[in-house]
Amino acid sequence: MSENERVQIRLKENGSIRIKGTVDIVDADGNVIESKSDFSLCRCGQSKEKPWCDGAHKACGFEAPEGINS
Ligand code: FES
Repeated sequence: MSENERVQIRLKENGSIRIKGTVDIVDADGNVIESKSDFSLCRCGQSKEKPWCDGAHKACGFEAPEGINS
């Protein structure tokens, strides 16, 4: 993987975990379920489409723990 292909994981302020780049989604047995690019994972626990963020963090007023809020 080259420098230009590095995956970035960004903690959105009081929101999701944004994945920028292509990653393999792997189940508990180590099987690749799918490869996915540029998506957001739920961090608030309120998404109806877990593990994906569906925007529910806005309605529930999610506040990320202090210190990892950037
Ligand atoms: S972080 Fe967006 S729905 Fe949970």
